[in-house]
Amino acid sequence: MSLPEQQAPVARVVHFDIFTLFPPMFSGPFAESIIRRAQERKLISISLHNIRDYTTDRHHVCDDLPYGGGGGMVMKPAPIFRAVETVLTRPVGWTLPLEDAYVNLPAWDEQAPAALPADTPIILLTPQGRQLNQTIVAELSAYPRLALLCGRYEGIDERVHTQLATDEISIGDYVLSGGELAAMVIVDAVTRLLPGALGYELGAAQDSHSPGLGGLLEGPQYTRPHLFRGEETPAVLLSGHHAQVKRWRHEQALLRTLLHRPDLLRHLPLSAADQTFLQQHGWLADIHYDPVSKQPGQL
Ligand code: 6GU
Repeated sequence: MSLPEQQAPVARVVHFDIFTLFPPMFSGPFAESIIRRAQERKLISISLHNIRDYTTDRHHVCDDLPYGGGGGMVMKPAPIFRAVETVLTRPVGWTLPLEDAYVNLPAWDEQAPAALPADTPIILLTPQGRQLNQTIVAELSAYPRLALLCGRYEGIDERVHTQLATDEISIGDYVLSGGELAAMVIVDAVTRLLPGALGYELGAAQDSHSPGLGGLLEGPQYTRPHLFRGEETPAVLLSGHHAQVKRWRHEQALLRTLLHRPDLLRHLPLSAADQTFLQQHGWLADIHYDPVSKQPGQL
């Protein structure tokens, strides 16, 4: 007997601890749609921690001049270490009481590292990190608790990289002003993978880049009206032939991937029929495609 292709999903919940100098940046995105409902359904919970609350000097300074000179400021290590070590040595959901910020912080050892839980990745969001993809998102979604550390772009003291972060993630090759938007991206992408987070049965399995589509981009979709601005819905979608619809969608996913992201095709498990189909549409199987120009053979 063969194993069932898809097992019943295990109920999972994820708690996010987000460390940032700008907690208000998160209020809009986390209060809407899927992420709001996932919180209401207790599939995820999110604690925002203001790194500045963990400063003890008069002016609550979190950055300083870079040693060796140069432009910009660098985030100081101590407030970040203090915030992360204080929170992660406490139960899920703990936040510093407002009135305790700066003035009544829990005891903390500046000299010695705290014993942090091994099952909680501490992820530094930085353009220097490994580039996020759906495989990494799936990997992250298996942890019960994730700590997301948002640096500001100019820089963060190297000791945070070497002694505190257990992982470093970038969301792409472009520059953001800080890690906050990247942290929101991770919360969103992880949340949609949790069973029950999406309203419909197949859920995220049918998304582009997901196993359900074999790593292909999703093809075109249509809804009413049948005719809009001179463009008709393809007849096959109205035919009621389930097998033909399925085949058409698969071919469209192949064609769309060839057109928009030919670089993805090289590493996908394509059937012989898929390879033949793609080659008939101009795919050169042995050629490297540049992900940006989409042209073959360019470095
Ligand atoms: Cl995670 N942070 C910043 N500052 N810029 C980025 C990024 C992260 N990912 C891409 N660009």
